[in-house]
Amino acid sequence: MSSKHVAPVRWLKGSPEIPGDKSISHRAAIVGTLAQGRTRITNFLTAQDCLNTLAACEQLGAVVERQGTMLTLEGRGLRGLTRPAADIDCGNSGTGVRLLSGVLAGQPFTSVITGDAQVRSRPMRRIIEPLEKLGARIESRPGLLCPLRIHGASLRGTEYRSPVASAQVKSCLLLAGLFAEGETRILLPAASRDHTERMLKAFGAQVAQGQISDSAQTHWTASTGEWVSIQGQTPLTAQAVDIPADISSAAFFLVAAALLPGSALQLNNIGMNPTRTGVLDVLSRMGAKIQIDNQREMNGEPVADLRVAGGDPLNARTISGENLIPRLIDELPILAVAAAAAHGETIIEDAAELKVKETDRIGVLVAEFRKIGVEAQERPDGMVIRGGEIRGGTADSHGDHRLAMCLAIAGLVSEEGVTVENPECVETSFPQFWRQLDEVRD
Ligand code: S3P
Repeated sequence: MSSKHVAPVRWLKGSPEIPGDKSISHRAAIVGTLAQGRTRITNFLTAQDCLNTLAACEQLGAVVERQGTMLTLEGRGLRGLTRPAADIDCGNSGTGVRLLSGVLAGQPFTSVITGDAQVRSRPMRRIIEPLEKLGARIESRPGLLCPLRIHGASLRGTEYRSPVASAQVKSCLLLAGLFAEGETRILLPAASRDHTERMLKAFGAQVAQGQISDSAQTHWTASTGEWVSIQGQTPLTAQAVDIPADISSAAFFLVAAALLPGSALQLNNIGMNPTRTGVLDVLSRMGAKIQIDNQREMNGEPVADLRVAGGDPLNARTISGENLIPRLIDELPILAVAAAAAHGETIIEDAAELKVKETDRIGVLVAEFRKIGVEAQERPDGMVIRGGEIRGGTADSHGDHRLAMCLAIAGLVSEEGVTVENPECVETSFPQFWRQLDEVRD
Protein backbone atom coordinates (compact mmCIF):
# COMPACT_ATOMS: atom_id res chain seq x y z
CA MET A 1 0.00 0.00 0.00
CA SER A 2 1.37 3.42 -0.87
CA SER A 3 1.51 6.31 1.56
CA LYS A 4 2.64 9.92 1.82
CA HIS A 5 4.02 11.62 4.91
CA VAL A 6 2.84 15.18 5.50
CA ALA A 7 5.10 16.98 7.97
CA PRO A 8 3.93 19.90 10.09
CA VAL A 9 4.60 23.38 8.67
CA ARG A 10 4.63 26.88 10.15
CA TRP A 11 2.66 28.62 7.40
CA LEU A 12 1.43 28.49 3.79
CA LYS A 13 2.12 31.33 1.38
CA GLY A 14 1.42 31.96 -2.30
CA SER A 15 -1.31 31.37 -4.82
CA PRO A 16 -2.09 27.69 -5.37
CA GLU A 17 -3.88 26.88 -8.59
CA ILE A 18 -7.33 25.49 -7.82
CA PRO A 19 -8.73 23.31 -10.64
CA GLY A 20 -12.09 23.73 -12.38
CA ASP A 21 -15.33 22.98 -10.57
CA LYS A 22 -16.19 19.29 -10.63
CA SER A 23 -19.98 19.70 -10.55
CA ILE A 24 -19.97 22.29 -13.34
CA SER A 25 -17.51 20.28 -15.48
CA HIS A 26 -19.82 17.23 -15.44
CA ARG A 27 -22.76 19.42 -16.42
CA ALA A 28 -20.91 21.28 -19.19
CA ALA A 29 -19.93 18.00 -20.85
CA ILE A 30 -23.41 16.46 -20.57
CA VAL A 31 -25.42 19.54 -21.55
CA GLY A 32 -22.98 20.25 -24.42
CA THR A 33 -23.60 16.71 -25.69
CA LEU A 34 -27.36 17.36 -25.76
CA ALA A 35 -27.01 20.71 -27.57
CA GLN A 36 -26.84 21.42 -31.26
CA GLY A 37 -23.50 22.83 -32.38
CA ARG A 38 -20.01 23.13 -30.95
CA THR A 39 -19.66 23.91 -27.24
CA ARG A 40 -16.31 25.34 -26.11
CA ILE A 41 -15.31 24.65 -22.55
CA THR A 42 -12.36 26.27 -20.78
CA ASN A 43 -10.94 25.26 -17.41
CA PHE A 44 -12.63 21.84 -17.57
CA LEU A 45 -11.64 19.66 -14.60
CA THR A 46 -9.35 17.02 -16.08
CA ALA A 47 -9.67 14.78 -13.03
CA GLN A 48 -10.74 11.16 -13.30
CA ASP A 49 -14.43 11.73 -12.41
CA CYS A 50 -15.01 14.28 -15.16
CA LEU A 51 -12.84 12.45 -17.70
CA ASN A 52 -15.12 9.45 -17.19
CA THR A 53 -18.18 11.60 -17.87
CA LEU A 54 -16.49 12.98 -20.98
CA ALA A 55 -15.79 9.43 -22.19
CA ALA A 56 -19.47 8.59 -21.60
CA CYS A 57 -20.47 11.61 -23.70
CA GLU A 58 -18.23 10.27 -26.49
CA GLN A 59 -19.93 6.88 -26.17
CA LEU A 60 -23.21 8.73 -26.72
CA GLY A 61 -21.87 10.29 -29.91
CA ALA A 62 -20.33 13.62 -28.87
CA VAL A 63 -17.13 14.47 -30.75
CA VAL A 64 -14.62 15.80 -28.24
CA GLU A 65 -11.29 17.51 -28.91
CA ARG A 66 -9.27 18.26 -25.83
CA GLN A 67 -6.11 20.25 -25.24
CA GLY A 68 -5.33 20.23 -21.54
CA THR A 69 -8.25 21.86 -19.76
CA MET A 70 -9.75 23.35 -22.93
CA LEU A 71 -12.12 21.36 -25.04
CA THR A 72 -14.57 21.60 -27.85
CA LEU A 73 -17.50 19.25 -27.95
CA GLU A 74 -19.71 18.75 -30.98
CA GLY A 75 -23.16 18.03 -29.55
CA ARG A 76 -25.75 15.62 -30.95
CA GLY A 77 -28.94 17.53 -30.17
CA LEU A 78 -31.72 16.02 -28.08
CA ARG A 79 -32.63 13.36 -30.64
CA GLY A 80 -29.21 12.40 -32.01
CA LEU A 81 -27.56 10.32 -29.28
CA THR A 82 -26.12 6.97 -30.26
CA ARG A 83 -26.54 3.76 -28.32
CA PRO A 84 -23.27 3.07 -26.42
CA ALA A 85 -21.42 0.06 -27.80
CA ALA A 86 -20.25 -0.90 -24.29
CA ASP A 87 -21.39 -0.34 -20.70
CA ILE A 88 -20.85 3.22 -19.46
CA ASP A 89 -18.32 3.20 -16.61
CA CYS A 90 -18.41 6.32 -14.43
CA GLY A 91 -15.56 5.11 -12.19
CA ASN A 92 -15.80 6.78 -8.78
CA SER A 93 -18.39 9.35 -9.78
CA GLY A 94 -21.86 9.21 -8.24
CA THR A 95 -22.62 12.50 -10.01
CA GLY A 96 -21.71 10.94 -13.36
CA VAL A 97 -23.96 7.91 -12.81
CA ARG A 98 -26.94 9.87 -11.54
CA LEU A 99 -26.87 12.68 -14.10
CA LEU A 100 -26.21 10.42 -17.08
CA SER A 101 -28.98 8.04 -15.96
CA GLY A 102 -31.42 10.92 -16.42
CA VAL A 103 -30.26 11.29 -20.01
CA LEU A 104 -30.32 7.54 -20.70
CA ALA A 105 -33.89 7.22 -19.38
CA GLY A 106 -35.16 9.36 -22.26
CA GLN A 107 -33.43 7.49 -25.10
CA PRO A 108 -34.99 5.07 -27.58
CA PHE A 109 -32.48 2.37 -26.54
CA THR A 110 -31.32 0.29 -23.59
CA SER A 111 -27.96 0.95 -21.96
CA VAL A 112 -26.00 -0.11 -18.89
CA ILE A 113 -24.31 2.32 -16.51
CA THR A 114 -22.03 1.50 -13.60
CA GLY A 115 -18.94 2.55 -11.64
CA ASP A 116 -16.23 1.35 -9.27
CA ALA A 117 -16.80 -0.57 -6.01
CA GLN A 118 -17.62 2.63 -4.06
CA VAL A 119 -20.20 3.73 -6.63
CA ARG A 120 -21.67 0.24 -6.76
CA SER A 121 -22.45 0.49 -3.06
CA ARG A 122 -24.15 3.92 -3.26
CA PRO A 123 -27.95 4.23 -3.15
CA MET A 124 -29.70 4.48 -6.52
CA ARG A 125 -33.31 4.12 -5.34
CA ARG A 126 -33.40 7.92 -5.20
CA ILE A 127 -33.14 8.09 -9.01
CA ILE A 128 -34.68 4.74 -10.01
CA GLU A 129 -38.07 5.53 -8.44
CA PRO A 130 -38.61 8.92 -10.09
CA LEU A 131 -37.19 7.85 -13.47
CA GLU A 132 -39.65 4.94 -13.47
CA LYS A 133 -42.41 7.41 -12.59
CA LEU A 134 -41.46 9.33 -15.73
CA GLY A 135 -41.83 6.14 -17.77
CA ALA A 136 -38.40 4.48 -17.99
CA ARG A 137 -37.79 0.91 -16.79
CA ILE A 138 -34.63 0.21 -14.80
CA GLU A 139 -33.12 -3.10 -13.73
CA SER A 140 -30.59 -2.97 -10.91
CA ARG A 141 -28.61 -5.18 -8.54
CA PRO A 142 -30.38 -6.28 -5.33
CA GLY A 143 -30.71 -3.31 -3.01
CA LEU A 144 -31.32 -1.00 -5.97
CA LEU A 145 -27.60 -0.68 -6.66
CA CYS A 146 -25.46 -0.27 -9.81
CA PRO A 147 -25.01 -1.53 -12.46
CA LEU A 148 -28.26 -0.13 -13.81
CA ARG A 149 -29.77 -1.44 -17.04
CA ILE A 150 -31.84 1.50 -18.25
CA HIS A 151 -34.59 0.80 -20.76
CA GLY A 152 -35.19 4.26 -22.19
CA ALA A 153 -38.73 5.28 -23.17
CA SER A 154 -40.90 8.17 -24.31
CA LEU A 155 -41.12 9.96 -20.98
CA ARG A 156 -44.11 11.91 -19.69
CA GLY A 157 -43.56 14.93 -17.43
CA THR A 158 -44.75 14.57 -13.86
CA GLU A 159 -44.33 16.03 -10.38
CA TYR A 160 -41.91 14.28 -8.04
CA ARG A 161 -41.19 15.01 -4.37
CA SER A 162 -37.69 13.92 -3.52
CA PRO A 163 -37.22 12.84 0.11
CA VAL A 164 -33.55 13.96 -0.04
CA ALA A 165 -32.22 17.45 -0.77
CA SER A 166 -29.91 16.10 -3.45
CA ALA A 167 -28.71 18.12 -6.43
CA GLN A 168 -27.82 14.85 -8.14
CA VAL A 169 -31.43 13.67 -7.96
CA LYS A 170 -32.75 17.07 -9.04
CA SER A 171 -30.28 17.21 -11.96
CA CYS A 172 -31.03 13.65 -13.02
CA LEU A 173 -34.72 14.53 -13.29
CA LEU A 174 -34.14 17.86 -15.02
CA LEU A 175 -32.09 16.05 -17.66
CA ALA A 176 -34.74 13.35 -18.03
CA GLY A 177 -37.37 16.11 -18.13
CA LEU A 178 -35.63 17.58 -21.19
CA PHE A 179 -36.79 14.51 -23.12
CA ALA A 180 -40.26 14.27 -21.58
CA GLU A 181 -43.57 15.41 -22.97
CA GLY A 182 -44.86 18.41 -20.99
CA GLU A 183 -43.54 19.73 -17.71
CA THR A 184 -41.45 17.88 -15.14
CA ARG A 185 -41.54 19.39 -11.66
CA ILE A 186 -39.27 18.39 -8.79
CA LEU A 187 -39.74 19.36 -5.14
CA LEU A 188 -36.95 19.03 -2.60
CA PRO A 189 -36.94 19.43 1.19
CA ALA A 190 -34.17 22.08 1.04
CA ALA A 191 -32.27 24.04 -1.58
CA SER A 192 -29.30 22.29 -3.18
CA ARG A 193 -26.65 23.37 -5.70
CA ASP A 194 -28.29 24.84 -8.81
CA HIS A 195 -25.57 24.52 -11.45
CA THR A 196 -27.77 22.36 -13.69
CA GLU A 197 -30.55 24.94 -13.71
CA ARG A 198 -28.09 27.73 -14.53
CA MET A 199 -26.41 25.79 -17.30
CA LEU A 200 -29.61 24.51 -18.88
CA LYS A 201 -30.99 28.05 -18.95
CA ALA A 202 -27.78 29.33 -20.58
CA PHE A 203 -28.22 26.67 -23.31
CA GLY A 204 -31.83 27.74 -23.93
CA ALA A 205 -33.91 25.32 -21.85
CA GLN A 206 -37.12 26.50 -20.18
CA VAL A 207 -36.40 26.07 -16.50
CA ALA A 208 -38.25 27.72 -13.61
CA GLN A 209 -37.47 27.51 -9.92
CA GLY A 210 -38.60 28.84 -6.57
CA GLN A 211 -38.83 28.30 -2.84
CA ILE A 212 -41.44 26.29 -0.99
CA SER A 213 -42.01 28.31 2.12
CA ASP A 214 -45.53 27.15 2.81
CA SER A 215 -44.97 24.12 5.01
CA ALA A 216 -48.64 23.11 4.68
CA GLN A 217 -47.90 22.16 1.07
CA THR A 218 -45.28 19.62 2.01
CA HIS A 219 -44.45 17.03 4.62
CA TRP A 220 -41.27 18.97 5.42
CA THR A 221 -41.63 21.42 8.21
CA ALA A 222 -38.41 22.84 9.64
CA SER A 223 -36.82 23.95 6.40
CA THR A 224 -37.61 25.94 3.32
CA GLY A 225 -37.83 23.60 0.37
CA GLU A 226 -37.28 24.32 -3.30
CA TRP A 227 -39.11 23.47 -6.50
CA VAL A 228 -37.77 23.42 -10.01
CA SER A 229 -39.50 22.67 -13.28
CA ILE A 230 -38.50 22.10 -16.88
CA GLN A 231 -40.53 22.21 -20.07
CA GLY A 232 -39.61 19.15 -22.13
CA GLN A 233 -38.39 18.88 -25.70
CA THR A 234 -36.99 22.40 -26.05
CA PRO A 235 -33.82 22.24 -28.19
CA LEU A 236 -30.51 23.37 -26.68
CA THR A 237 -27.92 25.50 -28.48
CA ALA A 238 -24.15 25.15 -28.01
CA GLN A 239 -22.42 27.77 -25.84
CA ALA A 240 -19.01 28.86 -24.61
CA VAL A 241 -18.55 27.80 -20.99
CA ASP A 242 -15.73 29.04 -18.77
CA ILE A 243 -15.63 26.98 -15.59
CA PRO A 244 -14.76 28.67 -12.26
CA ALA A 245 -12.31 27.09 -9.81
CA ASP A 246 -13.86 24.59 -7.42
CA ILE A 247 -14.69 26.01 -3.98
CA SER A 248 -14.72 22.42 -2.65
CA SER A 249 -11.05 22.04 -3.67
CA ALA A 250 -10.18 25.54 -2.45
CA ALA A 251 -11.62 24.62 0.96
CA PHE A 252 -8.57 22.47 1.86
CA PHE A 253 -6.24 25.44 1.41
CA LEU A 254 -8.65 27.85 3.11
CA VAL A 255 -8.74 25.71 6.25
CA ALA A 256 -4.98 25.07 6.31
CA ALA A 257 -4.12 28.76 5.94
CA ALA A 258 -6.73 29.82 8.49
CA LEU A 259 -5.22 27.42 11.05
CA LEU A 260 -1.55 28.37 10.54
CA PRO A 261 -0.62 31.83 11.89
CA GLY A 262 1.51 33.78 9.42
CA SER A 263 -0.13 32.16 6.40
CA ALA A 264 -1.29 34.23 3.43
CA LEU A 265 -2.91 32.56 0.43
CA GLN A 266 -4.53 34.04 -2.62
CA LEU A 267 -7.10 31.81 -4.38
CA ASN A 268 -8.33 33.14 -7.71
CA ASN A 269 -11.51 32.65 -9.79
CA ILE A 270 -13.29 30.67 -7.10
CA GLY A 271 -16.91 29.72 -7.79
CA MET A 272 -19.15 31.59 -5.32
CA ASN A 273 -22.53 30.14 -6.16
CA PRO A 274 -24.54 30.78 -2.94
CA THR A 275 -25.64 27.12 -2.90
CA ARG A 276 -21.95 26.20 -2.39
CA THR A 277 -20.53 28.86 -0.06
CA GLY A 278 -21.59 27.45 3.31
CA VAL A 279 -17.94 26.67 4.04
CA LEU A 280 -17.07 30.39 3.93
CA ASP A 281 -19.94 31.24 6.27
CA VAL A 282 -18.88 28.64 8.82
CA LEU A 283 -15.16 29.45 8.66
CA SER A 284 -15.93 33.15 9.11
CA ARG A 285 -18.12 32.36 12.12
CA MET A 286 -15.22 30.31 13.54
CA GLY A 287 -13.04 33.43 13.26
CA ALA A 288 -11.15 32.80 9.98
CA LYS A 289 -9.96 35.90 8.12
CA ILE A 290 -11.20 35.48 4.56
CA GLN A 291 -11.43 38.45 2.25
CA ILE A 292 -13.62 38.30 -0.85
CA ASP A 293 -12.38 40.48 -3.75
CA ASN A 294 -13.28 41.14 -7.34
CA GLN A 295 -16.78 39.62 -7.29
CA ARG A 296 -18.05 39.01 -10.83
CA GLU A 297 -20.01 36.56 -13.00
CA MET A 298 -18.69 33.90 -15.36
CA ASN A 299 -21.40 32.28 -17.55
CA GLY A 300 -24.13 32.92 -15.04
CA GLU A 301 -22.06 31.64 -12.10
CA PRO A 302 -20.76 34.09 -9.44
CA VAL A 303 -16.96 34.08 -9.01
CA ALA A 304 -14.49 35.93 -6.74
CA ASP A 305 -10.88 35.97 -5.62
CA LEU A 306 -10.30 34.93 -2.02
CA ARG A 307 -7.55 36.00 0.34
CA VAL A 308 -7.08 34.02 3.53
CA ALA A 309 -4.70 34.85 6.35
CA GLY A 310 -3.79 32.78 9.38
CA GLY A 311 -4.29 34.51 12.70
CA ASP A 312 -5.89 33.78 16.04
CA PRO A 313 -7.03 30.22 16.74
CA LEU A 314 -10.46 29.29 15.39
CA ASN A 315 -13.43 28.74 17.73
CA ALA A 316 -15.81 25.77 17.62
CA ARG A 317 -19.29 26.36 16.18
CA THR A 318 -22.23 23.99 15.81
CA ILE A 319 -22.71 23.08 12.14
CA SER A 320 -26.33 22.08 11.53
CA GLY A 321 -29.58 22.95 9.83
CA GLU A 322 -31.31 21.59 6.76
CA ASN A 323 -30.74 24.85 4.92
CA LEU A 324 -27.00 25.01 5.69
CA ILE A 325 -25.84 21.39 5.34
CA PRO A 326 -26.51 20.99 1.58
CA ARG A 327 -24.50 24.20 1.03
CA LEU A 328 -21.36 22.60 2.49
CA ILE A 329 -21.97 18.85 2.36
CA ASP A 330 -18.67 18.08 0.59
CA GLU A 331 -16.75 20.46 2.88
CA LEU A 332 -17.91 18.87 6.16
CA PRO A 333 -14.83 16.61 6.36
CA ILE A 334 -12.40 19.54 6.02
CA LEU A 335 -14.52 21.60 8.42
CA ALA A 336 -14.14 18.67 10.81
CA VAL A 337 -10.35 19.11 10.52
CA ALA A 338 -10.79 22.82 11.29
CA ALA A 339 -12.90 21.79 14.29
CA ALA A 340 -10.24 19.31 15.45
CA ALA A 341 -7.70 22.16 15.67
CA ALA A 342 -10.14 24.79 17.04
CA HIS A 343 -10.95 25.84 20.63
CA GLY A 344 -13.97 24.00 22.02
CA GLU A 345 -16.35 21.24 21.01
CA THR A 346 -17.96 21.14 17.56
CA ILE A 347 -21.23 19.37 16.88
CA ILE A 348 -22.13 18.47 13.30
CA GLU A 349 -25.83 17.57 12.87
CA ASP A 350 -28.44 16.98 10.13
CA ALA A 351 -25.76 15.44 7.90
CA ALA A 352 -26.82 11.78 7.57
CA GLU A 353 -26.22 12.12 3.80
CA LEU A 354 -22.48 12.07 4.60
CA LYS A 355 -22.82 8.34 5.24
CA VAL A 356 -23.64 7.65 1.58
CA LYS A 357 -20.87 9.62 -0.11
CA GLU A 358 -17.74 7.99 -1.65
CA THR A 359 -17.33 6.36 1.78
CA ASP A 360 -19.31 6.60 5.00
CA ARG A 361 -17.66 9.91 5.76
CA ILE A 362 -18.95 9.95 9.34
CA GLY A 363 -17.74 6.49 10.36
CA VAL A 364 -14.48 6.60 8.42
CA LEU A 365 -13.51 10.10 9.48
CA VAL A 366 -14.16 9.46 13.18
CA ALA A 367 -12.14 6.21 13.06
CA GLU A 368 -9.21 7.82 11.22
CA PHE A 369 -9.32 10.94 13.44
CA ARG A 370 -8.86 8.73 16.49
CA LYS A 371 -5.70 7.23 14.94
CA ILE A 372 -4.11 10.70 14.79
CA GLY A 373 -5.12 11.73 18.28
CA VAL A 374 -8.36 13.61 17.61
CA GLU A 375 -11.21 12.95 20.05
CA ALA A 376 -14.35 12.41 18.00
CA GLN A 377 -17.64 10.55 18.38
CA GLU A 378 -19.94 9.30 15.69
CA ARG A 379 -23.63 10.27 15.69
CA PRO A 380 -26.30 8.96 13.31
CA ASP A 381 -26.47 12.31 11.53
CA GLY A 382 -23.05 13.79 12.21
CA MET A 383 -20.28 13.80 14.79
CA VAL A 384 -18.90 15.53 17.85
CA ILE A 385 -15.29 16.73 17.77
CA ARG A 386 -13.27 17.95 20.73
CA GLY A 387 -10.85 20.61 19.46
CA GLY A 388 -7.22 21.05 20.54
CA GLU A 389 -3.83 19.92 19.29
CA ILE A 390 -3.78 17.24 16.58
CA ARG A 391 -1.04 14.80 17.59
CA GLY A 392 -0.48 13.06 14.25
CA GLY A 393 0.24 9.45 13.22
CA THR A 394 -0.86 7.22 10.35
CA ALA A 395 -4.36 7.28 8.87
CA ASP A 396 -6.06 5.80 5.81
CA SER A 397 -8.01 7.69 3.14
CA HIS A 398 -9.98 4.49 2.30
CA GLY A 399 -9.66 5.59 -1.33
CA ASP A 400 -11.86 8.66 -0.69
CA HIS A 401 -10.32 11.71 -2.38
CA ARG A 402 -11.68 14.26 0.05
CA LEU A 403 -10.57 12.25 3.08
CA ALA A 404 -7.02 11.94 1.65
CA MET A 405 -6.83 15.75 1.35
CA CYS A 406 -8.33 16.22 4.83
CA LEU A 407 -5.71 13.97 6.38
CA ALA A 408 -2.98 15.89 4.54
CA ILE A 409 -4.22 19.19 5.99
CA ALA A 410 -4.44 17.57 9.43
CA GLY A 411 -0.77 16.61 8.96
CA LEU A 412 0.27 20.20 8.16
CA VAL A 413 -1.29 21.53 11.38
CA SER A 414 -0.34 18.55 13.59
CA GLU A 415 2.50 18.12 16.09
CA GLU A 416 4.17 15.08 14.51
CA GLY A 417 2.81 14.99 10.95
CA VAL A 418 0.39 12.53 9.37
CA THR A 419 1.23 9.63 7.09
CA VAL A 420 -1.67 9.35 4.63
CA GLU A 421 -2.31 5.84 3.36
CA ASN A 422 -3.81 5.54 -0.15
CA PRO A 423 -3.02 9.10 -1.21
CA GLU A 424 -3.45 8.64 -5.00
CA CYS A 425 -7.23 8.94 -4.88
CA VAL A 426 -6.88 12.75 -5.06
CA GLU A 427 -6.92 12.03 -8.84
CA THR A 428 -10.71 11.88 -8.54
CA SER A 429 -11.13 15.64 -8.09
CA PHE A 430 -7.75 17.40 -7.64
CA PRO A 431 -4.89 15.64 -9.48
CA GLN A 432 -2.36 18.41 -8.73
CA PHE A 433 -3.17 18.55 -5.02
CA TRP A 434 0.14 17.18 -3.73
CA ARG A 435 2.18 19.41 -6.04
CA GLN A 436 0.17 22.53 -5.17
CA LEU A 437 0.63 21.78 -1.48
CA ASP A 438 4.41 21.48 -1.90
CA GLU A 439 4.50 24.82 -3.68
CA VAL A 440 2.89 26.83 -0.88
CA ARG A 441 4.39 25.18 2.23
CA ASP A 442 7.28 26.83 4.14
C1 S3P B 1 -23.05 16.97 -6.44
C2 S3P B 1 -24.02 16.99 -5.48
C3 S3P B 1 -23.80 16.55 -4.09
C4 S3P B 1 -22.32 16.46 -3.76
C5 S3P B 1 -21.54 15.78 -4.85
C6 S3P B 1 -21.68 16.55 -6.14
C7 S3P B 1 -23.41 17.41 -7.80
O1 S3P B 1 -24.40 15.27 -3.92
O2 S3P B 1 -22.12 15.78 -2.55
O3 S3P B 1 -20.18 15.70 -4.52
O4 S3P B 1 -22.49 17.71 -8.61
O5 S3P B 1 -24.60 17.48 -8.09
P1 S3P B 1 -25.97 15.14 -3.60
O6 S3P B 1 -26.66 15.97 -4.59
O7 S3P B 1 -26.34 13.72 -3.77
O8 S3P B 1 -26.14 15.63 -2.20
